[in-house]
Amino acid sequence: MLQHLKQTDHGTPRRESEQLVTLEIDGNEATVPKGTSVMRAAVDAGIQVPKLCATDSLEPFGSCRLCLVEVEGRKGYPASCTTPAEAGMKVRTQTPKLQELRKGVMELYISDHPLDCLTCSANGNCELQDMAGVTGLRNVRYGMEGANHLHSAKDESNPYFNYDPSKCIVCNRCVRACEETQGTFALTISGRGFDSRVSAGQDESFMESECVSCGACVEACPTATLQEKSVIWLGQPEHSAITTCAYCGVGCGFKAEMKGNEVVRMVPWKDGKANEGHSCVKGRFAWGYTTHADRMLKPMIRAKITDPWQEVSWEVAINHAASEFKRLQAKYGRDSVGGITSSRCTNEETYLVQKLVRAAFGNNNVDTCARVCHSPTGYGLGQTLGTSAGTQTFKSVEQADVIVLIGANPTDGHPVFASRMKRRLRGDGYTPGAKLIVIDPRRIDIVRMPHVQATHHLQLKPGTNVAVISAMAHVVVTEGLVDEAFVTERCDIKSFNQWREFVARPANSPEALEAATGVPAAEVRAAARLYATAKNGAIYYGLGVTEHSQGSTMVMGIANLAMATGNVGREGVGINPLRGQNNVQGACDMGSFPHELPGYRHVSDSTVRAEFEAAWGVTIDPEPGLRIPNMFDAALCGQFKGLYCEGEDIVQSDPNTQHVAAAMMAMECVVVQDLFLNETAKYAHVFLPGSSFLEKDGTFTNAERRISRVRKVMPPKAGYADWEVTQMLANALGYPMNYKHPSEIMAEIAALTPTFRGVSFEKIDRLGSVQWPCNEDTDEAGTATMHTDRFVRGKGRFIITQYVATDEKVTRKFPLLMTTGRILSQYNVGAQTRRTENNRWHSEDRLEIHPHDAEERGIKTDDWVGIASRAGDTVLRATVTERMQPGVVFTTFHFPESGANVITTDNSDWATNCPEYKVTAVQVMPVMQPSAWQAENSRFNRVQQALLHAGSEPAEVEEVEEVEVLGEVADRAQGQ
Ligand code: SF4
Ligand code: SF4
Ligand code: SF4
Ligand code: FES
Repeated sequence: MLQHLKQTDHGTPRRESEQLVTLEIDGNEATVPKGTSVMRAAVDAGIQVPKLCATDSLEPFGSCRLCLVEVEGRKGYPASCTTPAEAGMKVRTQTPKLQELRKGVMELYISDHPLDCLTCSANGNCELQDMAGVTGLRNVRYGMEGANHLHSAKDESNPYFNYDPSKCIVCNRCVRACEETQGTFALTISGRGFDSRVSAGQDESFMESECVSCGACVEACPTATLQEKSVIWLGQPEHSAITTCAYCGVGCGFKAEMKGNEVVRMVPWKDGKANEGHSCVKGRFAWGYTTHADRMLKPMIRAKITDPWQEVSWEVAINHAASEFKRLQAKYGRDSVGGITSSRCTNEETYLVQKLVRAAFGNNNVDTCARVCHSPTGYGLGQTLGTSAGTQTFKSVEQADVIVLIGANPTDGHPVFASRMKRRLRGDGYTPGAKLIVIDPRRIDIVRMPHVQATHHLQLKPGTNVAVISAMAHVVVTEGLVDEAFVTERCDIKSFNQWREFVARPANSPEALEAATGVPAAEVRAAARLYATAKNGAIYYGLGVTEHSQGSTMVMGIANLAMATGNVGREGVGINPLRGQNNVQGACDMGSFPHELPGYRHVSDSTVRAEFEAAWGVTIDPEPGLRIPNMFDAALCGQFKGLYCEGEDIVQSDPNTQHVAAAMMAMECVVVQDLFLNETAKYAHVFLPGSSFLEKDGTFTNAERRISRVRKVMPPKAGYADWEVTQMLANALGYPMNYKHPSEIMAEIAALTPTFRGVSFEKIDRLGSVQWPCNEDTDEAGTATMHTDRFVRGKGRFIITQYVATDEKVTRKFPLLMTTGRILSQYNVGAQTRRTENNRWHSEDRLEIHPHDAEERGIKTDDWVGIASRAGDTVLRATVTERMQPGVVFTTFHFPESGANVITTDNSDWATNCPEYKVTAVQVMPVMQPSAWQAENSRFNRVQQALLHAGSEPAEVEEVEEVEVLGEVADRAQGQ
């Protein structure tokens, strides 16, 4: 579905008001909500008023004087962008006098502007050019001889956009976009009068400044002053399609602007409900990986991982994979193979993989990477509220008065939502900002940044979340802060009373738990009071909650607290997991877990199974299958022999890398379907090329349960979209699949899943997006806020959350606690972002360490440090920073050579096996060389690269020797 390239610009933002005013504009009647500008009222009435400094994503500024109008009975010529529409007003937008004034304004602008329109990169998409035409400017009386800015130096430092001050009209839109939309405050107008110019930071280049490259200023700029480099290189786009970002769980809508099959730029979609026209550096600019030379475009097979890869046809690769899976099942049993679905693939693709496992393999050995991130969310919210998803829309945060942020770093992990949250925290001229409570071991940016400061930062020790939430609950219960009416009406009273008695115990008081958590009791008390007494208290959380041995307990603790204070079931409140990957919500919804069919229905439920059995024409195993860690353990025991892994890099992303690698080597047929030869593919026997989000149709579901379209804007580079590959594999396995288009897959999902009953491609195309539950019981667009009248499970259930310290304890040998997380410019295992210019911001994983711990060990920033845990050791460079508390270190896991997961242990959440990534006891010491694992891994990589390029030729001698060493390891692991 092609969209027009330009969306209507209403000039000023929409105003919400129940009061309407009716006015007359150029003889036309217009009725608008009170507070709407005359300019917007005119646009709504189909009348365009010339403008330059106004745009509908920003508050009006009134500087360019191009939008002047005449208002009957008023003197002068008010700016329509800053003049509110009033009842009975009679406005004229086109008169000879206005024409003359506007022409004069334009003449001044153009007299200090290069007249190179024909060769300008914005030619055809420049508001200044448009306004010169609209105002009828034909000649400029002032010459170019006097002082001007035509030779000002360009700033080309940012890898994605240029700043050319010679074209700047000082309209201030960029500065306001950075402040209002993004909330970074990186830009100012420096100088006065004629010398006024946009400046990043303290007259620094964009790269040196605090700019985070979100692109909001570029989008807001009406001229070619701030311009995407891709547009400068490729020219203006010709056509576009609306699609959804393939990075994080915010799920921003984008307009992919194209020239033929080439992306010229990704422009945030103003009507995208998750982002409303905003973006971050990843979605906006980091799409170069889709055409990177590292893309693997040919299917490949090999008998052993020590053999060279052979490029083969799709048919050969698919038939080989299918015959291997059949051979393994015949030899080792039906349960000896399984599959892993991808949170990066579409809902339709994920659904097909789990269907293949259940229908073609005939078992439930299917799991997904949500296992290692938000599986405790599924369990915890399912137990307490009855459904495994967040309760709100992102927009809901605009109604929150107190925001509690637990174990999440949205300015890095969910940047577009963070901008929305920061806007609410700053407040505006009418409403004071919300208060912020941050519960996090690190001093993350949002604790203190321009115009945002947390009221409380509970800087707890890693692993003590449950103690903190119990202590907050203790305050609520013992200080009479329970919302008794809500609890009585909406919750299960028996469970509430048990919980109340439990948390009221002195052992759960902030004072009793202070030693364990490291958080002063008074801070916990103050934070609990603030949240409990808020009109609207909203909780947002991330992997700092789930990736713990008590991840599920903490999720239930959060739900308990929200229910006890009545903060569920309306706008501005709720429990909101910030999902990591683009479609992690969808992967869970689609039945990727070994115990659940699509829609979170247990495989042991014979009624549910019967529905799927009838539709799929097979018998479904009533027993849950293996989770990912169980697959690894079973592989090492010789019971699990074959894996179909679509779009996941388990060797890099899962904990205890050496254990994972050994498990991979113990399997006889690993089929990897991916864009790149990732770390997992190095252990594969069949490689099936994947397709990027630009190459296929489908849907993603974001953290708000919002289902949005992914649209194909170019043909699959390797010939097939991922869903087609899965379909071919199923057919080769003897289980027929014959979908012609992903819309047919969604139709099947809708038919079999009650919460998706009303979802269809046609509806999403028509409405833009829908939110599940979406069926005959909901609005047409589904459900924005969950649990409004009753909880999905009926009565909200309180669950006792006993704090149990993790087994992962600091000792003299391992005296520090390591925790992991993300940074803005990289994404997850980095497979995509590492293949973009985003590396300019973050080209390696680093170890953050507090100055005291660093000094004790003689470590300075940039030093190489060895990090050793009970699981393994690795070497990174250090960054000494007070963001860390003493005793805690932090790293990211975006680069495979860092081996962050060599250190993490296989401790996991008691309920879901979600790994305890956030707590690893380590020692850190200065070192001079890579760790033994890094040396071995780099050797293994060299060998694998040689095998990739060797084709049928024998590998070089040195490589053959190394292959033999590897072969021995593999044989040992396979018990041969
Ligand atoms: S790219 Fe974003 S952060 Fe950087 S200056 Fe522009 S608006 Fe500000
Ligand atoms: S850079 Fe663009 S948006 Fe900023 S003041 Fe100049 S013309 Fe306006
Ligand atoms: S916030 Fe997330 S979904 Fe939005 S552009 Fe950035 S990475 Fe993409
Ligand atoms: S658009 Fe109104 S003053 Fe510039």
